Order: sequence, then structure tokens, then C-alpha cells
Amino acid sequence: HPNRETGPREAAELIRRPRRLRTSPAMRDLVAEYRLHPEDLIQVLFVRDGIEEPAEISSMPGQYQHTLASVLEAVRRAEAAGVRCVDLFGVPREEDKDADGSAAWHPEGILNRAIRAIREEFGDRLVIMADTCLDEFTDHGHCGPLTTDPKGRTVVDNDASVALYRRMAVSQAEAGAHVVSPSGMMDGQIAGIREALDAAGFADVSVMAYSAKYASAFFGPFRDAVGSSLTGDRKTYQQDPANRRESLLEARLDVEEGADMVMVKPALAYLDILREVAEESPVPVAAYHVSGEYAMIEAAAANGWVDRERIVLESLTSIRRAGADMILTYYATEVAEWLRDGR
Ligand code: PBG
Repeated sequence: HPNRETGPREAAELIRRPRRLRTSPAMRDLVAEYRLHPEDLIQVLFVRDGIEEPAEISSMPGQYQHTLASVLEAVRRAEAAGVRCVDLFGVPREEDKDADGSAAWHPEGILNRAIRAIREEFGDRLVIMADTCLDEFTDHGHCGPLTTDPKGRTVVDNDASVALYRRMAVSQAEAGAHVVSPSGMMDGQIAGIREALDAAGFADVSVMAYSAKYASAFFGPFRDAVGSSLTGDRKTYQQDPANRRESLLEARLDVEEGADMVMVKPALAYLDILREVAEESPVPVAAYHVSGEYAMIEAAAANGWVDRERIVLESLTSIRRAGADMILTYYATEVAEWLRDGR
């Protein structure tokens, strides 16, 4: 072997051999820097009004639009696996959508009914997180009401949106949410929601801010999941994937406005952003492994092109390594079960 003669050093001189710490599973476990825990995984769930049976989401095989009964079943399974938090999205009936998205804050809206049912059964055993955004509930699919600007353009009305998010957050707290999570990317939404929650007596309800949320094609399958009415895009309120700095600004503003936790979304294509936000954040940091990331793994795995279990664990571990304290993912329960079963 040429290196035996001509290598940079004699074998005997090679005192640094990193491979020593990779010699067995026990050794590798011993020196692992990051680990997945069920407690750090947040199971994302969809609940849909007006259906009798859970409906599988075509672009997210294995994920469902749940009924009130089946969402409770899914939460039971999550809890049994060791997951400590669920994040809920509501899908209203088509006829309940309107220009403002009023089914979002109606106490009998589907999301509030689901929150109430879960809180009744699980109390404080689980952290109940609710998505606080109007896009599932508006008939135009945008994250807030539309208006016409002085130049005649149709735009999402920032301040009117925040006024409605305040109502939605309070209605979610009344239904029993422990955490509200505004995902609409309106300026000032955290301050507005914090003030409304406090005024309504919900000083203990926390806010997870979707701080760095990009206008991303990785959200594609989510639009199927919530039966979105959107045509066009959200580029006037969500961030440009070309930008890094404004994520730090967004996270900083959210913390100043009272965010208890901040989030970066999507996850894998934005690990650099996640690392930077995590490095300077004084509050816990979440990352959202989104629908498109899920769908890409499922599609490749279904074709036998990748090892599904390994690629899921590797993806989520990488998100932890980049700095996420917790991960919102459609895989939470399944991964928690794998971890419980010692895989
Ligand atoms: C909108 C919202 C979206 C997601 C979470 N909240 C979609 C969007 O902004 O267009 C995406 C989640 C996913 O893709 O898994 N309130």
C-alpha cells in the first residue's frame, strides 16, 4: 500500500484517529452530541369540519384530515408514544369561509371545538398548541383580510389582520390552548396578540412566533391538507428565500414584542438561518419540518429510492444539530414510537 511507505506520517505516529470513536454502536451512542427525544417533537394535526371519516391527504400519504373523534385518537397515540405537544390546524366547511375568515374565532369553529375536546380529555398532560392564522378560513386563502392600497393594488391589510388575530388568539385561549402560534407574518402580530391575551386574563397562555417564515414552495402539500382557496402567492408578507439578515430582525422583533418561543420554517433548506437564530435567541427556538419536506421523503421512500426510517431520523437530527430545541413535524408520533422501541 503506497501510504504505508509515503503517507504523511508513519502509522505509529498517527496518534489522532477519529475513527476510534466510531467503532461500535455503544461507542457512537456514548459520544453522540445530539439526540432526538419524544419530548422535543411536536405532532402537527389537521381537523376538518363536516366529515364523517378521516380523509387521507393525497400529497401527504399517512397524514389525515381528522374528524373530532379521530383527532382525539391521534392525540392519544401521540401521548402514549411520549410526545408532549400537539399543534392543531382547522379546516372549515367551504360554506363557512368568508372574506375575514370569521370561522377562525367563532367558539364553535372547528379548530376551537377540537382544542376544547382535547383540553377536556388531556388537561395539562399535553401542551396544546393552536395555529393562529386566517388562511384556512378565508374564502380567498390569504392570511388576513384584503384591501386596496392607494395605487389600486389588492393587498393583505396588515393592521386589520392583526386585529382579527387578536380575536382568534383569545378564542383559542378560551377553548383551552396553552400556546397560540401566529403564522401570518403580519408586522406587530406578536405584540397585538400578547396584549389581547393579557387583557382577557390569559397571561399564562404563551405565544410561539413563526418568526422567520419564508414564502416557500415547500408548503405545497399543506395547501391540499387545509383545502386552501389561495391563488397566487404570499410573497408580500412571507420572507424572500434569498434573504438571511431579515430573519434575525424578525426574530428580534418578535422577542421584543413578547414571543415566548420563536420558529424558523421550513427547516432543512434553512438550517443556516436556524443556526443563526438559535445562536442569538434568548428564548427557545423551534423549527418546522414542513409538508413538502414530508412529501419528498414519502415519495422517494415509496419508490424504494431512500431508506425511509433512516432519512427521517437523519433529517430531524440535523435540525436539532442546527439549533432547534423542538421540531414541529408530521413524523412526531411515529418517531417517538421508534425511539420508545429502541430503534
Ligand atoms: C399558513 C401556514 C402554512 C403552513 C403553516 N401555516 C402555509 C402557508 O403559509 O402557505 C405550512 C405548513 C406546512 O407546509 O407543513 N398559516
